[in-house]
Amino acid sequence: MSEPRQILVTSALPYANGSIHLGHMLEYIQTDMWVRFQKLRGNQCTYVCADDAHGSAIMLRAEKEGITPEQLIANVQAEHSADFADFLVDFDNFHSTHAQENRELSAAIYLKLRDAGHIATRSVTQYFDPEKGMFLADRFIKGTCPKCAAEDQYGDNCEKCGATYEPTDLKNPRSAISGAVPVLKDSQHFFFKLPDFEAMLKTWTRSGTLQEPVANKIAEWLDSGLQEWDISRDAPYFGFEIPDAPGKYFYVWLDAPIGYMASFKNLCSKRPELDFDAYWKKDSTAELYHFIGKDIVNFHALFWPAMLEGAGYRKPTAVCVHGYLTVNGQKMSKSRGTFIKARTYLDQLNPEYLRYYYASKLGRSVDDLDLNLDDFVQKVNADLVGKVVNIASRCAGFIHKGNAGVLVDANPEPELWATFQAAAPSISDAYEARDFARAMREIMALADRANAWIADQAPWSLNKVEGKQAEVQDICALGINLFRQLVIMLKPVLPKLAADAEAFLNVAPLRWSDLSSPLANHQLNPFSPLLTRIEPAKIEAMLEASKEDLIAEGAVTAGAATGNGELVKEPVAAEINFDAFATVDLRIALIEKCEFVEGADKLLRLTLDIGGAKRNVFSGIKSAYPNPVELEGRLTLYVANLAPRKMKFGISEGMVLAAGPGGSEIYLLSPDNGAKPGQRVK
Ligand code: MSP
Ligand code: ZN
Repeated sequence: MSEPRQILVTSALPYANGSIHLGHMLEYIQTDMWVRFQKLRGNQCTYVCADDAHGSAIMLRAEKEGITPEQLIANVQAEHSADFADFLVDFDNFHSTHAQENRELSAAIYLKLRDAGHIATRSVTQYFDPEKGMFLADRFIKGTCPKCAAEDQYGDNCEKCGATYEPTDLKNPRSAISGAVPVLKDSQHFFFKLPDFEAMLKTWTRSGTLQEPVANKIAEWLDSGLQEWDISRDAPYFGFEIPDAPGKYFYVWLDAPIGYMASFKNLCSKRPELDFDAYWKKDSTAELYHFIGKDIVNFHALFWPAMLEGAGYRKPTAVCVHGYLTVNGQKMSKSRGTFIKARTYLDQLNPEYLRYYYASKLGRSVDDLDLNLDDFVQKVNADLVGKVVNIASRCAGFIHKGNAGVLVDANPEPELWATFQAAAPSISDAYEARDFARAMREIMALADRANAWIADQAPWSLNKVEGKQAEVQDICALGINLFRQLVIMLKPVLPKLAADAEAFLNVAPLRWSDLSSPLANHQLNPFSPLLTRIEPAKIEAMLEASKEDLIAEGAVTAGAATGNGELVKEPVAAEINFDAFATVDLRIALIEKCEFVEGADKLLRLTLDIGGAKRNVFSGIKSAYPNPVELEGRLTLYVANLAPRKMKFGISEGMVLAAGPGGSEIYLLSPDNGAKPGQRVK
């Protein structure tokens, strides 16, 4: 056998300011399946990741929650780690970019770039929030579109007419953080001289490192000329201070990819057999793969290889790009319930269903990938339950009843066995090429062959015929061996199913090389069902729970609702004019009744008296009011003209207002004594 390859693999580092959703999971599952395949083949493969913990968004969110950024990123890291573990994503290390290794590596790389002349400094004029005392990134400035005059547009593009512009082109600009009128201010910035690396990038991006469409996109950027990249941000900023530049911080995207190295370095300190330099030195023979989404290609296929080259490190072997996840053919949507958090899925469904579905759809393409929920149910039930698991459940019983669980030494259909053997190289090639969809098609074609043969042999009929019992044992021995083949081939996708099958088969953890050696004269353990069918009701429950998540978040953000019913989660909403405010019909409401909602984890049902009329409202405040009766008789503030929302439990008519970070800290708003139900809030 050839020497095992040394392979280091990464997924993009998720931002530490939000939950993992099924879009993210496409990437982590894809990477994990590839890593598991490499390990199954006997290669030395290491999978590292980390939370991307820096930047102004994280700083502002921590401030809003009244905690330090360090506390925020620790909470989020715990949540992310649990989500990944429960989806069977098996990182060798999950670190943070806010870590000592990353601080040191970022400074060292920056200094190498600076000493080699790849850093420039010059003054930049930018909008500054005088109240908040900070420079404003484009997304923290709002104003009127210079082209179509739509109000309330972000600093770099208009959502109404699609125009792109500079923040200074916006009319009537406002800080989205404080609402203050921003002023222009100069500051010294540091730039990475990307054009120094143009020739290297032209070659590198065309040397098999990228999928064709990605290389073509990059070629467009290269042909239109590279710009120097602004890598500094002024205080206040949550990040690492730049060496010799007090008050200046590395832009989050400078230290984020270095976080890959830092996570690996951290792992090296725990695993002596791993040598940091062997993987990262310029002439390293180890392989390095980054799995990313299509939105962050420029950072990984331009800036990052240039930084590595400039600082004297090796460059990636390949950057593996995937498209975006859509659900039921559309962008994930909070109001449709298809913005599904990892945890919301896990509360209802087995992670391996989704792993298999993603595998069955993931090829080398960078096109978007659709999670069609009807197709999902149908495919998982037909393939995993109907084809794969079915083989074992058809054969196991006869071996236990007829031969005390001992699988005999028999191969009654050598041609079928040979078909499986012959298919293995093509399937491993498909895995290696990340063409999981082809691997799944070929594996399921084998499962079809096995099922057809067993149906044809009909051991259940044969078993009733005098003198045929030995033949039944032969058939079932091959059946179980074919099942074992399928389990090995599916192990990168279905690690839990594989572990359960190993327990039933009474074997050590299976490896790819076990494909060539069938079980014979072997004691099996009792068989218990390995996977059950997806019940469509679970899908409904998941969509409903996602809508609940939305309402729960809404209660906490005290509900600025946009036209399409989605909630804006800005630190402070941009300024609006009086007419816009007047469109919100805010009323005083008396909470007549307050009760738990059966089947809802986060909601309470409120019956409101709004001055004669009654309203039914679901509110995601259960975590703060475990004893709902205590709210009965209280007055609160109620948005009367929010579009009704249809839920499993009934229709929610409007919303009540509350404040606070969430959990037990949600505070329902109340008027002073004397206010009467139905009165309009002015
Ligand atoms: N923090 C950066 C990455 C830094 S890497 C040095 C980031 N974080 S992210 O949380 O926004 O995204 C993490 C990964 O998930 C990215 O590769 C991104 O493309 C991917 N996805 C995020 N939403 C996605 C979908 N809806 N569908 C598929 N992938 C998605 O970007
Ligand atoms: Zn516009």
